[in-house]
Amino acid sequence: MRIQDKVIVITGGASGLGLATARYMVQEKGARVAIFDMNTEAGEKAVKEIGAEHTLFVQTDVSNEESVQNAVNAVTARFGAIHVCINCAALPTPCKILGKEGKATPLAKFAQVTAVNVNGVFNVMSKCAEQMAKNEPEAGEERGVVINISSGAAYEAQIGQVAYAASKAALLGMNMPAARELGDVGIRVNAIAPGLFLTPMVQTLDEKIVAALKGQIEAPKRLGDMREFAHCCAFIVENAYLNAETIRLDAASRLRAR
Ligand SMILES: NC(=O)c1ccc[n+]([C@@H]2O[C@H](COP(=O)([O-])OP(=O)(O)OC[C@H]3O[C@@H](n4cnc5c(N)ncnc54)[C@H](O)[C@@H]3O)[C@@H](O)[C@H]2O)c1
Repeated sequence: MRIQDKVIVITGGASGLGLATARYMVQEKGARVAIFDMNTEAGEKAVKEIGAEHTLFVQTDVSNEESVQNAVNAVTARFGAIHVCINCAALPTPCKILGKEGKATPLAKFAQVTAVNVNGVFNVMSKCAEQMAKNEPEAGEERGVVINISSGAAYEAQIGQVAYAASKAALLGMNMPAARELGDVGIRVNAIAPGLFLTPMVQTLDEKIVAALKGQIEAPKRLGDMREFAHCCAFIVENAYLNAETIRLDAASRLRAR
């Protein structure tokens, strides 16, 4: 799908990888972008920086059905359609199975992560797909593209990432049934599993942890540049034959247990 003039919904687009992608899609590819994020201050700042003519921010909780429906309505009212949906919003909250003194971790702690990282993706993907299905097919075949952002933690997560890993692996499971079902209406569904990129989410981690993680990056031996992530999103949108696939964008890094 050509990106020029298309409408792209980016959840979590007020920060980190989502924000870098919003910037890239508007400034380098000529798209219009709608940012769905909880953080109003950061969202409004992003619109100012990227340019209000091509960017919309809607305060949204991806885990809430009404909130996402209102956000989708705001996008169609402003831009008239939705062509691409990039699901970046996520919680990285650590969670172990057994807490202090061997006590079982409360279910609510696990469920808080999956509510945003799994239910939130389904919620936004399904409501965007409903709109995409109304588009005129491009080149007679494509009405929309969904990109769900997973993580290297879906494959080799560390101790303390049981909820995050489960949530990110769930997105890989969604890839095939979603691509098969939505393929009937001309929508492709792919995922990206990033390695370590220098974003605010990573900056919240302890310095020692970041240093240890950096040591596990193979080649090139550095954190990912957020533009490299945005470029990967653009490639997925532009390549019409890529479907139900996960791209590991991680410089061949494989996390160790701790
Ligand atoms: N940064 C990395 O190195 C890395 C590595 C692997 C995977 N990822 C994945 O990439 C994605 C983006 O990561 P990032 O580092 O840019 O994160 P970030 O913390 O910089 O941004 C996440 C954004 O999501 C928003 N958000 C959180 N909960 C929300 C909700 N319920 N509704 C709407 N918005 C909500 C936050 O307000 C924030 O703006 C995430 O899915 C993350 O799991 C990141």
